[in-house]
Amino acid sequence: MGIGSLLRKKHLDQADITELLSCHEAGDIEQLRRAAWETTTRYCGHKVHFRGLIEFSNICANDCLYCGIRKSNCVVERYSLTVDEVVEAAISCAEHGIGSLVLQSGERTDPAFIDFVVEIVEKIKIATRSDNLPQGMGITLCVGEQQRETCERFFATGAHRYLLRIETTSPDLYRRLHPPGMSLERRKACLQDLKAIGFQCGTGVMIGLPGQTCEDLARDILFFRDSDVDMIGMGPYIVHQDTPLAGGVLGLPLPAVEAFELSLRMIAVTRIVLCDINIAATTALQALHPTGREEGIRFGANVVMPQLTPGRFRKHYLLYDGKPCVDGQEGECAGCLREKIITSGREPGLLEWGDSPHFTRRKHG
Ligand code: 5AD
Repeated sequence: MGIGSLLRKKHLDQADITELLSCHEAGDIEQLRRAAWETTTRYCGHKVHFRGLIEFSNICANDCLYCGIRKSNCVVERYSLTVDEVVEAAISCAEHGIGSLVLQSGERTDPAFIDFVVEIVEKIKIATRSDNLPQGMGITLCVGEQQRETCERFFATGAHRYLLRIETTSPDLYRRLHPPGMSLERRKACLQDLKAIGFQCGTGVMIGLPGQTCEDLARDILFFRDSDVDMIGMGPYIVHQDTPLAGGVLGLPLPAVEAFELSLRMIAVTRIVLCDINIAATTALQALHPTGREEGIRFGANVVMPQLTPGRFRKHYLLYDGKPCVDGQEGECAGCLREKIITSGREPGLLEWGDSPHFTRRKHG
């Protein structure tokens, strides 16, 4: 079936989604992109929402085979921001007009870590109250798999969005990418818990993993739809030299150009299938292409995450090689993204939380 007729179908099945993800002709890709852009603006409006990204610690108890901050990587210099440093970064974020932030770190489940997260959420909520944000900044947590009670505590403290990437829904690939203690089923259960608690819930995958096929990615999109998530953050898999995957144990990853283009098609098709969710144009896109995030927006993303981690720590939070914005000053990223959004014909969504319209519909019908 041609791309045009596929795009007119009401209900896309796995084979249709695989075909859309596999398209290569420039004309087909442009049709896909336009359909994604139209769906984005129809369901989510013209705004591109900002989330200041604060990577508050790179200490990690997990050992995922692809990730640069995995616990077995002894080359990494480990850091943790203090409570005051995180709160200061959040205030600076609010001063740049950003109404929401993502607090991201390596995964830990020990009580000291959990107490730390609770404390920073509490203090940020209070320190960033203003006329525009009477309840303080919107907070998304991205701190890995936690016990249900811990997530309940985070929610009660005022974090209202949670991002937990499933990484891949292929059981075989998941098993090969993670150490034996980790389980795809547990991660799925954790996502369900997060939703049941009341979080706006996000997930996502890496694109172009060694051995991953377009069928796998089509199943990932169906998983996003069936689990009724509110947000997606996904991007290309990029090798980190000090990880086991860099040695090619699972085979070769896609070449950068292909991984980049496939990531854009993945964003577009996810948008077309899920319509009203928030989708981020992730930093990893920018690592593969100088205008990667703008391209992400052109293909259906409606969220950007300017880097707001204090400058001197950024070079230690390297999940993959060639991460952009590690040399910049605080706030520089936000200013530069604001301009890029305006030139790409959209409006920067500032001074507001910018919640996912899907969440609002899910809650209030
Ligand atoms: N390439 C791309 N993305 C990566 N992540 C971790 N390592 C890599 C890599 N080598 C992503 C994972 C994780 C998120 C925080 O970063 O999807 O969930």
